[in-house]
Amino acid sequence: MLQTIAWTGHAARLLDQTRLPLETVYVDITDERQMWDAIKRLVIRGAPAIGVAAAFGAYLGIRHDESDSLAEFDAHLDQVCTYLATSRPTAVNLVWALDRIKGVSQETRKQGSRSEDLMVQKIKQRLLAEALTMLEEDKQVCRKIGEHGLELISGLRTQHSGLSVLTHCNAGALATVAYGTALAPIYFAHEQHIPIHVFADETRPLLQGSRITAYELREAGVPVTVICDNMAATVMKEGKVQAVIVGTDRVAANGDVANKIGTLNVAILAKYYNLPFYVAAPTSSIDLSLASGAEIPIEQRDSSEISNGLGRQTAPDDVNFYNPAFDVTPADLVTAIITEKGVAKPPYVQSLKALCPAGTGR
Ligand code: MRU
Repeated sequence: MLQTIAWTGHAARLLDQTRLPLETVYVDITDERQMWDAIKRLVIRGAPAIGVAAAFGAYLGIRHDESDSLAEFDAHLDQVCTYLATSRPTAVNLVWALDRIKGVSQETRKQGSRSEDLMVQKIKQRLLAEALTMLEEDKQVCRKIGEHGLELISGLRTQHSGLSVLTHCNAGALATVAYGTALAPIYFAHEQHIPIHVFADETRPLLQGSRITAYELREAGVPVTVICDNMAATVMKEGKVQAVIVGTDRVAANGDVANKIGTLNVAILAKYYNLPFYVAAPTSSIDLSLASGAEIPIEQRDSSEISNGLGRQTAPDDVNFYNPAFDVTPADLVTAIITEKGVAKPPYVQSLKALCPAGTGR
């Protein structure tokens, strides 16, 4: 199974996803500025993966800290976390992970130490340990999502011969530490020799579907067919898919979900063609502090991703571009939200609260 991020003992090693599918290249990240840049440029991407990456980024940012006092150290850690949080705004996992890192720092000091200097050393060790825990936890969380998701989709299989699902963008192993969210049920089905096939929307402008989803499914031996984004309606109309499964960057309290731009189109199509539209997410992507998707910050990216995204200029000079990286699918188009703690169904205000009493994460 491909792994997006690993700790080498002195650096966070990232699989450079900007180079896929042609090159499998790893980069070693040794400070918070490099991590910020890697997250911003999508060297590492996908909500759960950038959460874990940010946790390592925070440790890398303070590991050489030589503060004399805890107050100075705190200020430094806060500054590093605030900086990393500016890399990408939509995925709540990023802030969730950084809050968790700051929480570990606060918890550690409650245990006391002979001197402030020793305490700073102890906190540094704990922060690295927490980032490593998050790395391992993410794999377990994705496995659980896979189990719950497979229960849902294998029900569809009894009505059809074989099972074909459509996904948008990449919410697979390469968007997490391993397995993925939307693709986890598919890997589980494949492991259990349940015949399964995936239609992968290519996902303009940056082609995460064709470059990344198709790459990782092919590596795992799962049959995959890449389609252009504007072909999803035809595939549904022709009866070639039985369900849609996507990931998400943030789920609001009412069940509205932000995901890669174009997800909303797919959800509307699924409703029209009477197909279930499932969203797979760790509870760290749930943000009950936001009442609805209208409050989710949507990342705007550079226009060159549209005008020069395919390695050459594909639009005339001097025209306008609009490049939101995510859209929000309203809860009434979402059949169910599959998490590691179970499956939330409408009404989401109640079901999400029951799964996530603390508001987000564990
Ligand atoms: O811009 P990206 O590639 O980070 O967008 C990723 C997505 O939209 C994923 O579907 C989402 O982060 C969920 S990943 C499990």
